[in-house]
Amino acid sequence: MKRMFWALALTGGLFSQQAWSQCSLAIEANDQIQFNTKELHVKKSCKEVTLTLKHAGQLAANVMGHNWVLSATPDYQAIAQAGQAAGAPNYLPTGDARILASTNVIGGGQSVSIKFDASKLTVGGDYTFFCSFPGHFVLMNGKLIVE
Ligand code: CO
Repeated sequence: MKRMFWALALTGGLFSQQAWSQCSLAIEANDQIQFNTKELHVKKSCKEVTLTLKHAGQLAANVMGHNWVLSATPDYQAIAQAGQAAGAPNYLPTGDARILASTNVIGGGQSVSIKFDASKLTVGGDYTFFCSFPGHFVLMNGKLIVE
């Protein structure tokens, strides 16, 4: 009986760790205006997704700033343009409902984490993540796949 208890406790621990990793996303950016992936996957069952952006470069935020912004794919270029008009430091319009999630802009050597609710997204929907620093969205974009 005691052995059975420990087996269940261990299994429960593994399951919760797996659930955590599925609700946790990590992405890196560099000084070459690149993210390290073009695709991130998330489960709709994640009410609280933790997204961590790490800037692995060395350049400062005012010359090579990066953020991570999520929107529906048809909206992302317009948001990036509105962000450029909004200006430093975060290059995003405030109170824009098209922005589904966003981090602040960071510079080389910095990291930033945000939480967002994936249960509000649609399975199979078309979502793009991008950097809204002026000009970066052209190179720094990818798809968020909701499963
Ligand atoms: Co950038």
